[in-house]
Amino acid sequence: MERGKLIITIDGPGASGKSSTARGVARALGIPYVSSGMLYRAAALAALKEGADPADEKAVMEAVGRHEIVLVPDTEGDRVFMDGEEVTERLHTAEVDRVVSPVAKHPRLRAWVNAKLKELPPPFVVDGRDMGRVVFPDAPFKFFLWADPRIRAQRRAAERGEDPERVEAELRARDARDQAQTQPAPGAVWIDTGDLTLEEVIARVVDEVRKGLGESPE
Ligand code: DC
Repeated sequence: MERGKLIITIDGPGASGKSSTARGVARALGIPYVSSGMLYRAAALAALKEGADPADEKAVMEAVGRHEIVLVPDTEGDRVFMDGEEVTERLHTAEVDRVVSPVAKHPRLRAWVNAKLKELPPPFVVDGRDMGRVVFPDAPFKFFLWADPRIRAQRRAAERGEDPERVEAELRARDARDQAQTQPAPGAVWIDTGDLTLEEVIARVVDEVRKGLGESPE
């Protein structure tokens, strides 16, 4: 397969290790990493800035329309600019976490994100919830990462220096809200990351891709 058609989708629930895995895979293969969640987070930030009710689709879309949102894919982690100003750091705050799920539920917003993603030229690794099932159904490589909510919460709490119990409660609530869109694509390779190190998860994905490309594993 030509590299120009290479799209690798990595879906899974919050804090399942998608973004670290996607970044590691992108680095190993020397291709960009695209985070779809960052676009949902940017839309959530726009809604917060405009005081839009996250449950009101029209208000959210108006808030998004008032800002120029640019995603810059990067192997080391995507960057997001809003009206020319970098907002990457602000997108991973508890404030954005709290409103992003209701914002991401709106079909018009999902269409906005998906259109932006489809403009990007392959090759790339993309992570999210519905990348393999909805946005890139023809992607040649699809993965679904999973881990028990307690393990995911412990990882995220350690990353952010927050209380594990509170993080777990919030994560379970977000899982419930995101459930409809967080479904594995048919034929996706399912990886339970609970007992694996990040390096092992990355190696499993990279091996699978290299095998599929007819390249020998390292
Ligand atoms: O992957 P993440 O935690 O950065 O995603 C942030 C939120 O965006 C998450 O609550 C669900 C939503 N999301 C989505 O609905 N579809 C995607 N493809 C990616 C993220």
